Amino acid sequence: MVMGHSAAVTKQHLHETAATTLMGRLLRKFWQPVALASDMAVRQARPIRILGEDLTLYRGESGKPYLVGARCAHRCTLLHTGIIREDQISCMYHGWRYDGSGLCTDIPAESKPRANPIRIAGYPVREYAGLIFAYMGEGAAPEFDLPRKAAFETGSRSFFPKREFWDCNWFQQVENSMDAVHLSFAHLWGVPGQFGASISAGGEIPALEYVETSSGIRQIAARSNGNVRISDWTFPNNNHIVVPGPDQKASWGHVSVWAVPVDDRRTMRFRIYSTDKVDEETAARIRADLAFEPTFCADALFNGDLSGLSEQSIISAQDYVAVRGQGEICDREEENLSSSDAGVIFLRRVFLRELEAIATGAEPKMWASLKENIDLPPPPTRAA
Ligand code: FES
Ligand SMILES: [Fe+2]
Repeated sequence: MVMGHSAAVTKQHLHETAATTLMGRLLRKFWQPVALASDMAVRQARPIRILGEDLTLYRGESGKPYLVGARCAHRCTLLHTGIIREDQISCMYHGWRYDGSGLCTDIPAESKPRANPIRIAGYPVREYAGLIFAYMGEGAAPEFDLPRKAAFETGSRSFFPKREFWDCNWFQQVENSMDAVHLSFAHLWGVPGQFGASISAGGEIPALEYVETSSGIRQIAARSNGNVRISDWTFPNNNHIVVPGPDQKASWGHVSVWAVPVDDRRTMRFRIYSTDKVDEETAARIRADLAFEPTFCADALFNGDLSGLSEQSIISAQDYVAVRGQGEICDREEENLSSSDAGVIFLRRVFLRELEAIATGAEPKMWASLKENIDLPPPPTRAA
């Protein structure tokens, strides 16, 4: 991408993730979920790839997680095969040791001290609502604000974090969350689960309204009989909605979804489902309902076979077929937008404005979380 001229910023750059691209630079200014906290035991290390960068995520003996470069600075073997002692990780090959900031703190087989310190990448990390977040930008990390949801910090709640790998670009998922009309089609496709049936029984097309907020974009989709669905999308890749509970009697729960780029063609879809506190039996059932990975059954899904899926998995499957169906990276030169794409158009305008700020060296917007627990009303009627 050519830097320094605003005319260079087009929709052809919306999907990019590499650190050398405008979008890659913009994305790195935000805390991003990178792993499930429950996947990382004490003294465990895993290789992960985020925004096209290969990294090592490990949990020290203190319980704190750390995110450092994928490879040892000595002769480049993978660091996740190393040994964790206290809160540092030592390479399995010749024992070079690193702290959680990526600084090499010991070279045991070296007889002469080094004049200059050796470093690999190291990024700030923190845990929230069952996910591990990282900040991969330059300089000091911003306050951990945008990922926080008032709904997650209110009352006594249960959290069900999960991760899916989708084999397509992250921005298609972001656009999907700003497309309230797809509920009347995609979420009635295959199997009309509770979600699609409750919100858009009969496939009614909503009136759309989009408003920019301190944290992102509020989407208001109004159907008849007072069926108004509001969702708050947070810049740059997080949507917050309400969805049906695990069964007819349960209250609707809050869901926050992040589309985190592994690279341009793969996305980790982190999803926190949170409900009023439930007992262990219900929790186990919800966890089982959430155990779904669309790429494992992509052929069946693309043939319209959604049989046997839980309510929550049906929603994921329908979105996956729509979004993966656009291709690994959607060719936006081929599309023909219509008035029902008001949200997608609104969203792109906000992104292009922010990318232009990056391109011209101006300050992008300082986004800030919504402090109040905004009203996300479930539809007034439930499907039988
Ligand atoms: S390659 Fe890591 S210590 Fe030699
Ligand atoms: Fe959807």
